[in-house]
Amino acid sequence: MLKLGILISGNGSNLQAIIDAIAAGDLDARIEVVISNKPNAYGLERARAAGIRAVCIKPSSFTVAEEPTHSYNEALRRILVDADVDWVVMAGYMKLLGPEVLNAFPNHVINLHPALLPKFPGAHAIEEAFAAGVPTTGVTVHIANERFDDGPILAQTEVPINPDDTLEALEARIHAAEHQLLPQTLAELCSTR
Ligand code: GAR
Repeated sequence: MLKLGILISGNGSNLQAIIDAIAAGDLDARIEVVISNKPNAYGLERARAAGIRAVCIKPSSFTVAEEPTHSYNEALRRILVDADVDWVVMAGYMKLLGPEVLNAFPNHVINLHPALLPKFPGAHAIEEAFAAGVPTTGVTVHIANERFDDGPILAQTEVPINPDDTLEALEARIHAAEHQLLPQTLAELCSTR
């Protein structure tokens, strides 16, 4: 069984997909803790509704004297280590993760990204692929490193962009693909361990 720590920044629909996959018996995992860097992230409510411990750590609550980025990542690391997780999953976590966390879980930090990496990294991947007029984009799950949306790829799903697509329709299909691929990749990690 995987013991997961999930990092979020917003809606948490991918967190919900993991919660649902566990409930359906499709993923042998337990979410030990959900951490958000944003206090108003809806994913915190989703976690609490599922009986999962949900914590917000605001990067801005660390003072300059404390070296804020280091102290923030150190606080993240402490919660994840204390919760005894074995995999950290960035499911819509829109911040770079510091070496404090990456080094505590070597090769065990996963990121989800709404494009076919290495194409369209960053916070606006769906919009950028749509604007670029490429015929295909998709979804990537990869091992995270100290750079944004970078690291060894574990799984990808292609999502075609249709000539008459709207951005909203494309976003909906990308999110649906993510909700399949992330729990499925975690289930594969579980079976290959
Ligand atoms: C997802 O589309 C995820 O791929 C993206 O944020 C969204 C979070 O949605 N992450 C990135 O863009 C990382 N570069 P959610 O909060 O509903 O799960």
